[in-house]
Amino acid sequence: MEIVPLSDAVGAEIRSVDLRETLSVETLDQIEQAFHDYAIVLLRDQDITLEQQKTFALHFGELGSRNRPGPKPNEIDEYGEHVMLVTNVRENGKAIGSLPDGEMTFHADTAYFEFPSKATMLYAMELPSWGGNTLFSNCYAAAEQLPEEMKRRLDGQKAMQVYEYGTTLKTKEKYDRENFPHYAHPVFRKHPATGRSALFVSELMTEEIVGMPKAESDEILGKLFEHQKKAEMVYEHEWKVGDLVMWDNRCTIHARTDFPRDERRMLRRLTIQDTTPVVEGAVPYRQAAAE
Ligand SMILES: [Fe+2]
Repeated sequence: MEIVPLSDAVGAEIRSVDLRETLSVETLDQIEQAFHDYAIVLLRDQDITLEQQKTFALHFGELGSRNRPGPKPNEIDEYGEHVMLVTNVRENGKAIGSLPDGEMTFHADTAYFEFPSKATMLYAMELPSWGGNTLFSNCYAAAEQLPEEMKRRLDGQKAMQVYEYGTTLKTKEKYDRENFPHYAHPVFRKHPATGRSALFVSELMTEEIVGMPKAESDEILGKLFEHQKKAEMVYEHEWKVGDLVMWDNRCTIHARTDFPRDERRMLRRLTIQDTTPVVEGAVPYRQAAAE
């Protein structure tokens, strides 16, 4: 097995692993270590069934439910409760999957639950001729590279995570939180495996810093969202059919670029449920360059 970084920001490609085969404990341990070291792992040129994808996912924990709050798509039931088809494919005018069209701003999957998804695994089956790239931003780097003054202001704070079913910017003046799932999590969360602190806010889902005057909260969040988009923290993945990407929702956020509505795009998604609570992290410090 070969592990090749995808960028300076985040992510690594794992080569010479075929997910149709039974993987040894040693191989699985190496993949898990790469997942902790790089936060995102990519395995290219996979040709796998749903069962093979599930088998691989189950090495990292229990599968999460695809069921999210909000309007239910006309989802294909044969895939079962764990599988979400991320697709714009329509039959009789109705999308057969979820999150069908267009751009999505940065978020961590299901951050609005008490127990957000630990990881998400997406497998590319059909792709448009352009766009639909996934941007990944490194939340460890975002935390560590904040100005010291901002770290002090955010120390011990919680942020309210809400999902109101839109896929792009929050534009409402007032949010209708009571009708939507929401949960306040620490702004700096401690990763249970690596011990590192990650900045756990995102433009799509974070509504406010709890207990802070609105104007101050809006100003800080605006700065944090811009900070998370800095090129040095972001890896942009251009999908190829057969790509399988597993990302860590505890220390990365992701976004999607636009793509043509009239071309088919289909990815098969599984999530891995977290079993440990979200825990407050220490004020992060910059990692030494050599680490
Ligand atoms: Fe997502």
